[in-house]
Amino acid sequence: MSSPSFADLGVPTDLTRVLDAAGITSPTPIQAATLPDSLAGRDVLGRGRTGSGKTYAFLLPLVARLAASGRTARSGKPRSLVLAPTRELVAQIQESLAPLAKVHGFTMQTVFGGVGQGPQVAGLKRGADIVLACPGRLEDLIKQGHCRLDDIEVTILDEADHMADLGFLPAVRRLLDATPRDGQRLLFSATLDNAIDVLVKRYLSQPVTHQADSAQSPVVQMDHHVLRMPREHRVPVLVDLTSAPGRTVVFTRTKHGAKALARQLNKSGVPSVELHGNLSQNARTRNMDAFHSGKATTLVATDIAARGIHVDDVSLVVHADPPAEHKAYLHRSGRTARAGAAGTVITLMTPEQERDVRDLTRAAGIKPTITRVDALGHPVLSQLAPGERVLVPGGIVVEAPRPATGSTGGGGNGGAGGGGGGRNRNRRRSGSGSGAGAQGGPRGQGGQGGSRQGGKPGSKPAAKQGAKPAARRGGGRPAGGGSHNAASFSAGVR
Ligand SMILES: Nc1ncnc2c1ncn2[C@@H]1O[C@H](COP(=O)(O)OP(=O)(O)OP(=O)(O)O)[C@@H](O)[C@H]1O
Ligand SMILES: [Mg+2]
Repeated sequence: MSSPSFADLGVPTDLTRVLDAAGITSPTPIQAATLPDSLAGRDVLGRGRTGSGKTYAFLLPLVARLAASGRTARSGKPRSLVLAPTRELVAQIQESLAPLAKVHGFTMQTVFGGVGQGPQVAGLKRGADIVLACPGRLEDLIKQGHCRLDDIEVTILDEADHMADLGFLPAVRRLLDATPRDGQRLLFSATLDNAIDVLVKRYLSQPVTHQADSAQSPVVQMDHHVLRMPREHRVPVLVDLTSAPGRTVVFTRTKHGAKALARQLNKSGVPSVELHGNLSQNARTRNMDAFHSGKATTLVATDIAARGIHVDDVSLVVHADPPAEHKAYLHRSGRTARAGAAGTVITLMTPEQERDVRDLTRAAGIKPTITRVDALGHPVLSQLAPGERVLVPGGIVVEAPRPATGSTGGGGNGGAGGGGGGRNRNRRRSGSGSGAGAQGGPRGQGGQGGSRQGGKPGSKPAAKQGAKPAARRGGGRPAGGGSHNAASFSAGVR
């Protein structure tokens, strides 16, 4: 028996057309499980693995229900609300929503801090069918009288268990309290825990819970490794791994750690940007843009990037510092191996961290392969991150300011400059003696697995130039980009 189509599940044809155009033709397990109920107006609590398509699982019923109800958004009174923990995630959800909303001419307004509130206030005033928000700024605007939630028909909490964490819960409760009791509510995450019960009991009525996969069965196409090493190997090993072809997300515990590491990677020749809470919103946006476009091949982030963020073809996630707990491990790791693609996850562990790492991988239901890396240039590095190491002197090149007034060069700490093409075009091979090589980095790795790169030796590495780096890890496994299909999800996640 073939699996149901979106239409079979009740998704209106005008919306399936939009999905078709995006190459999304058959539902993933979490979509297949939840759509009949969510489209019917039920309250739903849904859990499906990272990268398994939860965004459409809540956006499709959102748009379909608003269309069916046919009301008009009034000034300052949005008709629906999507709450998410970070600005980047709000922006990303909006991007997925835009073509669906357009079908019905629905207006959207994002609401988050770190940017001026003027445009947000104006958008609310004009009337917004859908508000996508981080809780803090939305509360501010409500307090200032710019927004009321009395007309809300559908409320969605993405990363719902995180929204039930102490830091968010009070604001989330106040916001939900301000929405009508009989509105529809959809809560989604890759991990659910007891904390969410508070929200479920109080705000969902006769909810249906769908868990599209078992809590203890991680994404199948994700390979988990732990590298045990002395502390002094950490940076050279990171340079080695991140200078291989493909996109990498590196997680650190602290903002300071993310900043320092991005700077070190750039200095060593790996074009890197940082993402953490100490950056201005402009810098955050610029850095994410640079990572999306391929100008930066490595994103060094705190857990701010752990939840929900999707960048195509991230083939490697490195926990440069082990995460604090197992949920963070799953979400961080989930930035790779998305949408049926394969990916590798590496945790760097000093001997002192051994016990913590063991506990958290066990709690996450993961059995990683543990390798001792006693010397730099250990063969496991090129096995996990195959391909020729390529270094760009100075890392990410900040575009020369127009006119030539003095910016201090590009070495910098994740400052992704403007748009200039040609970035990364003249990467040097690591054997040529600059960058990481000078720091005891990836010597001797050049050329290994080079056949996977798609570029001839000595030519520009294809993986780093375009918007879509080639897949790099894992012998012969499929790349994610452009190959989204439900079969790969199903094969991967069941
Ligand atoms: N039915 C589908 N077929 C193919 N690709 C899909 C399908 N649904 C969603 N996708 C794609 O899968 C990718 C991951 O989706 P999404 O970001 O919604 O995952 P998620 O489950 O929310 O993950 P996370 O838990 O990390 O937030 C996106 O690129 C999305 O476009
Ligand atoms: Mg998501």
